[in-house]
Amino acid sequence: MATKTLVKTLAVAMGLAISGISLAGAPAAWNKAGGEKDKAMTLKPDLENGLDVYEVCSACHMPEGWGMKEGTFPQLAGQHRTVLIKQLADIRALNRDNPTMYPFALPESIGDEQAIADVTAYIEKLPMNPDNGKGDWAEGTPEFEQGKQLYDKNCTQCHGKNGEGDENKFYPKIAGQHYKYMLRQFEWIRDGKRRNANPDMVKQINGFSDKDMAMVINYTSRIPVPKEDLAPSKDWLNPDFD
Ligand code: HEC
Ligand code: HEC
Repeated sequence: MATKTLVKTLAVAMGLAISGISLAGAPAAWNKAGGEKDKAMTLKPDLENGLDVYEVCSACHMPEGWGMKEGTFPQLAGQHRTVLIKQLADIRALNRDNPTMYPFALPESIGDEQAIADVTAYIEKLPMNPDNGKGDWAEGTPEFEQGKQLYDKNCTQCHGKNGEGDENKFYPKIAGQHYKYMLRQFEWIRDGKRRNANPDMVKQINGFSDKDMAMVINYTSRIPVPKEDLAPSKDWLNPDFD
C-alpha cells in the first residue's frame, strides 16, 4: 500500500477511535488455552510475509519497532515473541481494548494465525531503541531509590531483576519500554481497565498510590538494557524500509 493511502486510512480510523467506539466488556481470563495464540505458536513463520504485514504496523509502531518516546505507541522491538503473540491475539479477540489498533489487526486486514506467526517473528529480530522514554527522576534521587525498592519487592518474581520478563510464562519484558506507555498500562492494570491483566499482578499492586506507581515505573524505565539487544545508535534506521 502506498504510504499516503496508508496514512489516510490511519487518520480515518484514529478519528473513529477518538469519536468513541466503545469495545469495553467484562474482564477476560488472563491466559486461557486455545484460540489464535496457541495456533500461531505452532506455525512455522515466514519472515518475508512478516515484513509485508509489518508495513501496516510500522505506521504507528515505526519502521524500527520503537514506537514513540512520549508513549502513545509502545516499543515492540525486543519484546518476547510469546508476549507479542498473546497481546496481538488478545487485541483481536477483544480481550484487551485497543480501539486505535483494532481495525488494522483484524484477519481481514492482515490475515489469519499465520500472519500473527509471521509478523511476530519479524518484530522479534529488530534491535531495541537505545534512547527509550524515561521518567523524570535520575539515579541518586530519593524517588529513584524508592522506586527501586518497590521494584525489588513487588515485581522481580515475574518481570525479573533486570526487567527481562519471562518468555515461557508470557511475562513481558519491561526494561527499555517507554515510561509513559508503561505508566498508562500499570494504572489500567491496577484499576481493572486492562482486562487481560494477570490477576496476581493486580493483587500485588493493589495498594500502590499514584506516587508509588510513578516511582516504580520511573525506575523500570531506567533499568539498563543489555548492549547486545540495542541498535548501534538512536539514529539507526531499519534497512528493510529503505
Ligand atoms: C493505528 C495505530 C496502530 C497500528 C497500525 C498498529 N498498532 Fe499495535 N498498538 C497501538 C497502540 C496505541 C498500542 C497500545 C495500546 C494501549 O496503550 O493500550 C498498541 C499495542 C500493541 C501491542 C502490545 C504491546 C505490549 O507491550 O503489550 C502489540 C503486540 C502490537 N501493538 C502489535 C501490532 C502489530 C503486530 C501491528 C500490525 C499488524 C500493529 N500493532 C499495528 C497502535 C497501533
Ligand atoms: C504475578 C506476576 C506479576 C507481578 C508480580 C507483576 N507483574 Fe507486571 N505483568 C505481568 C504480566 C503477566 C503482564 C502481562 C499481562 C497481559 O498479558 O495482559 C504484566 C504487564 C505489565 C506491564 C505492561 C507491559 C506491556 O508491555 O504492556 C507493566 C508496565 C508491568 N507489568 C509492570 C509491573 C511492575 C512495575 C510490577 C511491580 C510493581 C509488576 N508489573 C508486577 C505479571 C506480573
